[in-house]
Amino acid sequence: RNVAVLLAGGVGSRVGLDIPKQLIKVAGKTLLEHTLVALHDHPDVDEVLVMMTPGHTDAVRDITRGDAYPKVTAILEGGDTRNATTQRAIDHLLAGSDDAAEVRILLHDAVRPLVTPRIIGECFTALDTHPAVDVAIPSADTIIEVAADDTISSIPPRASLRRGQTPQAFRLDVLARAYEKAAADPDFTATDDCSVVLRYLPGEPIIVVHGDDRNMKVTEPIDVFIADKLFQLTGIDLPRAKDDAGYRAALAGKTMVVFGG
Ligand code: CTP
Repeated sequence: RNVAVLLAGGVGSRVGLDIPKQLIKVAGKTLLEHTLVALHDHPDVDEVLVMMTPGHTDAVRDITRGDAYPKVTAILEGGDTRNATTQRAIDHLLAGSDDAAEVRILLHDAVRPLVTPRIIGECFTALDTHPAVDVAIPSADTIIEVAADDTISSIPPRASLRRGQTPQAFRLDVLARAYEKAAADPDFTATDDCSVVLRYLPGEPIIVVHGDDRNMKVTEPIDVFIADKLFQLTGIDLPRAKDDAGYRAALAGKTMVVFGG
């Protein structure tokens, strides 16, 4: 069974509002709703688990009330860090499953509302042949590594670098084993889930699926404006579009109006 986990347990301190950033409204709906629709309506997703900021689960209950989201099976509070939130999702899924190897888990940031159906589909397909999947795009910018004193320590060749996005997808047994090892490591730190598998189960190959420039993460205040603009440009409820061809057609039509006139 394919479970999508909506990671919405953060507070969005860098955006700096008095509500979690996933509850900001863009193009008529909260970021959380846009992302929920994208995951929920995907044909490959059987079940959705929503991990929400402690104290804010009622907001998710309000959104999912009624019969629009039958695949949502649980709304739980997240942990102190993104990885702690993932750990809670893993624990919940392990408790409800006899065979973790049979469960496929796709974790997605609630603040990436423009994820495309293609990306979600390709992540699940990639799990047929690999235990772990990341999503990334090439970097237009040169990425530099800096030391503590702000001097450059290295500039890795750009061709070998990618910018990691989400979703990330795993066979549940593999992700659970990686997190079990991480829990035993007092030095454990990470900001995503693939790095936990990479570090604690180095033999497990992580395949990379091509992401999308639109699949941006709302992190800083300016990103709210960029996301809003992207929704406006497309003029369609993007995450509900069933395929990229449909999206491109809509965008092409819109682009002619915007730039062609
Ligand atoms: N997240 C989570 N649980 C946490 C922290 C983050 O589920 N304890 C989620 C966020 O809700 C978000 C995603 O992980 O959808 C990406 O994290 P980030 O952009 O860092 O979100 P915040 O932690 O909310 O932002 P900030 O670091 O600015 O406070």
